Amino acid sequence: MIELRRVSKRFGAETAVDGISLRVEKGELCVLVGTSGCGKSTTLRMINRLLEHSAGEIQIDGRPVQAFDEVQLRRRIGYVIQSTGLFPHWTVARNIGLVPTLLKWPRARVEARISELMALLGLPRDTFGDKYPDQLSGGQAQRVGVARALAADPDILLMDEPFGALDPITREELQEQLAGLQSRLHKTIVFVTHDMDEALRLADRLVVMDRGRIVQQGTPLQLLRDPASPFVESMLGGEDRGLKAAALIPVSERMVAPGAEALPRVAVNASLRQALALMLSARAPRLSVVDADGRVVGELGLPQLLGARAP
Ligand SMILES: Nc1ncnc2c1ncn2[C@@H]1O[C@H](COP(=O)(O)OP(=O)(O)OP(=O)(O)O)[C@@H](O)[C@H]1O
Ligand SMILES: [Mg+2]
Repeated sequence: MIELRRVSKRFGAETAVDGISLRVEKGELCVLVGTSGCGKSTTLRMINRLLEHSAGEIQIDGRPVQAFDEVQLRRRIGYVIQSTGLFPHWTVARNIGLVPTLLKWPRARVEARISELMALLGLPRDTFGDKYPDQLSGGQAQRVGVARALAADPDILLMDEPFGALDPITREELQEQLAGLQSRLHKTIVFVTHDMDEALRLADRLVVMDRGRIVQQGTPLQLLRDPASPFVESMLGGEDRGLKAAALIPVSERMVAPGAEALPRVAVNASLRQALALMLSARAPRLSVVDADGRVVGELGLPQLLGARAP
């Protein structure tokens, strides 16, 4: 769906993006991480042509981005930035309706879409529709930014630190909504974040950048298990890597047949990290694995948790 081949961007003498190649398949959520100034935002802006690339090729659905006109690109690509980019003199509702209005949707359909999105993002239109952006909290404004990007139902979303100003609870809620949206509607998403837990939770493909280059890409588990360099390892959390990987693996993947003994219980859909936490707090080297109805469906011991073969 999105393909970059040896793409570079120079600003005067400075090379901000240096020959990166990246393929994002339809329905994939690709997360870009890397230190400040490594070229993440520049990469997003070249995909929607807010910036022209200096070298290489960028294609969407097999067509060079230059071949699309602006209206077509706006319809297909939603864009969310941390500072929201909302128009300060427009109400929240009008901001959200921007792209559908540009696309000349009938008024009634635009209005219905605005109400639908505001409800989806927990901003009831009665309360928030007529407010101006500077009357919102940072987190509310970010949600308006997300609503605006989704308004015309684009098949591609570019999200540049979209949840940065949100409290952890709202943030997790929006992460879940985004993951749901992606799995239900097969949106193709390129997402930039500085929060590694957010990156690991959301990413189908994780891309680590350093000084304008891609230094490693793969699934979160691939990178956690086999970081290509000390830089990638430290980006992924250094010594915490083992715990971060354990958070991505469900208990169901490692459990063995249950015995008759009554043990502390862990849910079958819990992560190995949660199981380990429970072993520590219960001081138990083995746990009973239970399903949603509380039936014992397996057993997990330290050897399984560590990845050893079942005895
Ligand atoms: N319009 C511009 N003109 C000149 N230089 C720019 C421009 N935009 C970005 N740069 C430079 O390009 C490099 C990459 O910037 P970019 O914004 O892509 O980094 P980033 O990875 O998004 O960083 P951050 O995590 O801090 O947002 C930086 O050195 C920046 O100073
Ligand atoms: Mg940036």
